[in-house]
Amino acid sequence: ADEPLVLGIETSCDETGVGIVRGHTLLADAVASSVDEHARFGGVVPEVASRAHLEAMVPTVRRALDEAGVKASDLDGISVTAGPGLAGALLVGVSAAKAYAYALGKPLYGVNHLASHICVDQLEHGPLPEPTMALLVSGGHSSLLLSPDITSDVRPLGATIDDAAGEAFDKVARVLGLGFPGGPAIDRQAREGDPEAILFPRGLTGPRDPAFDFSFSGLKTAVARWVEARRRDGEPVPVADVAASFQEAVADVLTRKAVKACKEQGAGHLMIGGGVAANSRLRAMAERRCEDAGIVLRVPRPKLCTDNGAMVAALGAEMVARGRTPSALDLPADSSLPV
Ligand code: KG4
Ligand code: ZN
Repeated sequence: ADEPLVLGIETSCDETGVGIVRGHTLLADAVASSVDEHARFGGVVPEVASRAHLEAMVPTVRRALDEAGVKASDLDGISVTAGPGLAGALLVGVSAAKAYAYALGKPLYGVNHLASHICVDQLEHGPLPEPTMALLVSGGHSSLLLSPDITSDVRPLGATIDDAAGEAFDKVARVLGLGFPGGPAIDRQAREGDPEAILFPRGLTGPRDPAFDFSFSGLKTAVARWVEARRRDGEPVPVADVAASFQEAVADVLTRKAVKACKEQGAGHLMIGGGVAANSRLRAMAERRCEDAGIVLRVPRPKLCTDNGAMVAALGAEMVARGRTPSALDLPADSSLPV
């Protein structure tokens, strides 16, 4: 049988993403971002995001269909992020997906945003091993996940007890005056800095700490205190060194715990997904540490790590391929949908 042709819609935060895949093959990845509209507020404003999704939805769907060179009538299904995310933003995507599914007479698949961040790697590196071991690091989540079946069963081994990794990047960037979003700005600055200039704390890495949980709030505070002390003394802030040293602490903790989880679970591979997986230092450190441990590393290209519609289409295609029951047309948008 032919591989399923699926269109996926993502609107959980500030990216309106529409992707089209055929099985594990990426055909289109159209993204309209409202990030510039949020920059002056220093963070995503939910109402602004919802309105931007509404305006961008139909043009972005058209762009994806054009890019893929497929007809909407040939689709085998429409998938959409049902949660977690911003309630109003999710609602725009879910409503649009229902309308397209109903008008075209296609099955609708509501999918989990976090599972999509993992499943997207099938477009890059082919079928995921089962169970899949994944480190998911984004603006809203930082978790180690073990998934026997990405369409129905994703189990958390550990998660952040306070800030998400991406949130820490965004907050530290604000302290350094680097603007929003912080992750890419810190990544750029860090290239010019010394990662060993300042030793920042590695949260929850003591012998009695939970092995697979994370904490980034202490690190964020330590960076803010260090910078404040410099300013109080009238000394210049070495922005590149602070960025590099902070980034080093995050990458160190994430990769150390992920490799430990792989060893404990006997996993021969590690998938890293979510916006923070676009970070160049995290990618390099994960590569080295996985190689040393004999673990195969799977990280999608940066554009597929940050929010996009292709990841939703990838999981939708997997649902179709596995014969999962489609969602009903009263599918709710659930801002706190668990994995
Ligand atoms: O997955 P994502 O696009 O949206 C959520 O689901 O949260 O992740 C967004 C987060 C933001 O906090 C952003 O600062 C971070 O990913 N991010 C990065 C990089 N690119 C995006 N963090 C570190 N380095 C990057 N290059
Ligand atoms: Zn995300």
